[in-house]
Amino acid sequence: MINVGVIGYGYWGPNLVRNFSEAKETQVVAVSDLSQERLALAQRRYPAIEVSTDHRDIFADSRIDAVAVATPVSSHYELAMGALKAGKHVLIEKPLTESSEQAIRLVDEADRRNLVLMVDHTFVYTGAVRKMQDLVASGELGDIYYYDSVRVNLGLFQHDVNVIWDLAVHDLSIMEYILPLQPHTVSATGVSHVAGQPENIAYLTLFFDSDLIAHIHVNWLAPVKLRSTLIGGSKKMIVYDDLQPSEKVKVYNKGITVNNGAESRYQMLIGYRTGDMWAPHLSVTEALQAEVQHFARCLDKGETPVTDGHAGLRVVRILEAATRSMAAKGQPVELNQMRVIA
Ligand SMILES: NC(=O)c1ccc[n+]([C@@H]2O[C@H](COP(=O)([O-])OP(=O)(O)OC[C@H]3O[C@@H](n4cnc5c(N)ncnc54)[C@H](O)[C@@H]3O)[C@@H](O)[C@H]2O)c1
Repeated sequence: MINVGVIGYGYWGPNLVRNFSEAKETQVVAVSDLSQERLALAQRRYPAIEVSTDHRDIFADSRIDAVAVATPVSSHYELAMGALKAGKHVLIEKPLTESSEQAIRLVDEADRRNLVLMVDHTFVYTGAVRKMQDLVASGELGDIYYYDSVRVNLGLFQHDVNVIWDLAVHDLSIMEYILPLQPHTVSATGVSHVAGQPENIAYLTLFFDSDLIAHIHVNWLAPVKLRSTLIGGSKKMIVYDDLQPSEKVKVYNKGITVNNGAESRYQMLIGYRTGDMWAPHLSVTEALQAEVQHFARCLDKGETPVTDGHAGLRVVRILEAATRSMAAKGQPVELNQMRVIA
């Protein structure tokens, strides 16, 4: 049995506590939160769990093998580093850290101590995203041409992070899991409609070493909730609508054929191919349950998590570059050099 301590029992922390408590491989022995009220709630729901307002009690508890961190991103680095230094494995909320420099330090520390560092990129553990990864990896879609995503609603305005760090982080973690290539450059634009507050609407474009292009639109100020993604391939295309209760993923056998046989390029003929649409069967296991079981297996068998510290770092690098590009009114920023391309 893996003993877990959870730091942060606000909005998301209770989901972690519930899933760690329900999994047969893990149990929650302690929860820490700065708020006595939140701790009282945790104790009412789980009377056997110990609670504390001081996270250091979790680090000092020798029964605890792993720590889950579900606090605001500004405290992720300090808490995760403290847990690793106390010899605990770590599951940490997205985004991994506030900067790539912090993320690199955590990855190094976990590697040096041979501890598991896993980031909660929740969507990667959903049946829909797993299926899309299968379809792309098996070549069913052909060459991938584009990834186009919209994630908007009348959302909670965050004060410490902009909409890219809050919402685009989900699309970036899905993309980095599904697509065969990593982007090399990002361009982002966005604005804030509340004076002195972070940007609440943003558009990101990502460029790759091929004609693959990705676009992500995120917005806290939309009248309706949309969570939809198009993935276009040379053979087939996917429409993924996360708000559908079933058939979230639809695969369309549609595309174009290009007739290059014409005498000049002005005569090039585009043909349209339309075939069947099908909705693959998707696992309905709760993402966090699958994730908690994966985390437990990684601890037990020494496996590397699908969403390890490196995956968290790759996403943080894009978030950082996008924020820099947005400040430079959309100037492309190279991910390797992290410099604005004039
Ligand atoms: N994976 C997902 O889909 C998902 C969804 C929502 C939030 N999150 C992530 O979860 C994290 C928390 O978000 P939230 O919405 O639950 O925030 P929240 O503000 O509702 O809760 C955070 C809690 O952490 C506590 N806290 C802060 N510092 C602490 C410390 N040093 N020790 C103990 N407790 C401390 C606060 O008292 C608060 O109760 C963020 O990183 C966020 O990005 C992930």
